Amino acid sequence: MYGLINQAIQAHVESRYGAAAWRRGCAAAMLEEPAFLTLESYPDSVSYALVAAVAKETGLSPAVVLEDVGRLFTGFAASRGYEDLLRATGSSFAQFLTNLDLLHSHVGGAYPELRPPSFRVSELQEDCMRLHYYSTREGLASMVIGLLHGAAERFELTLEVVHDVRCGEGSDHDEFAVRFALRSGAAHADKTHP
Ligand code: HEM
Repeated sequence: MYGLINQAIQAHVESRYGAAAWRRGCAAAMLEEPAFLTLESYPDSVSYALVAAVAKETGLSPAVVLEDVGRLFTGFAASRGYEDLLRATGSSFAQFLTNLDLLHSHVGGAYPELRPPSFRVSELQEDCMRLHYYSTREGLASMVIGLLHGAAERFELTLEVVHDVRCGEGSDHDEFAVRFALRSGAAHADKTHP
């Protein structure tokens, strides 16, 4: 995956566990402390090895590490120049999730080897929806759960996510039942729907 993703893993580990933990994680993943380049594409195995090494280092499961990275990712991307794109992707949570494929196709201009995920919203209601996630990769559903929480924060929402359909278990993709509500004390009117 592109260096942007590995940089997000690095940013998460360094901010939560410190630079030494990141160095130990890299060593365990058999990587010399790497300086990932945002626009360079690395083998997926590098990202998976980093997540596995960080999980071992912190005593967490790889799924929890991926979820944590997902939570941070939107803010991380915003700090890397993508705030305008994120804002243009939707003025409500539902619209934002509906437009995720457009977001990745915009991003694709700078990342020619991008193999983006694909998302589809169905059963949209006032306070819930079903999100379908298609990927050419395995094992990243936990990152999607974190990504959804991170995105919900932008809209001052609280979120419940249930991963109730798993790719490979009778389905060609993952599905999440997503329930959302405006956070108490949130400043703005309705950020849930367009
Ligand atoms: C401006 C913000 C964003 C940027 C710049 C961005 C960019 C990227 C890039 C470069 C990759 C690596 C793909 C590859 O190397 O082939 C990626 C993967 C991914 N992105 Fe985004 N992304 C953004 C926002 C989001 C959001 C908001 C979500 C979901 C809520 C999301 C979901 C994913 C997932 C799940 C993957 C893993 C790839 C896979 O599932 O196969 N991204 N993104």
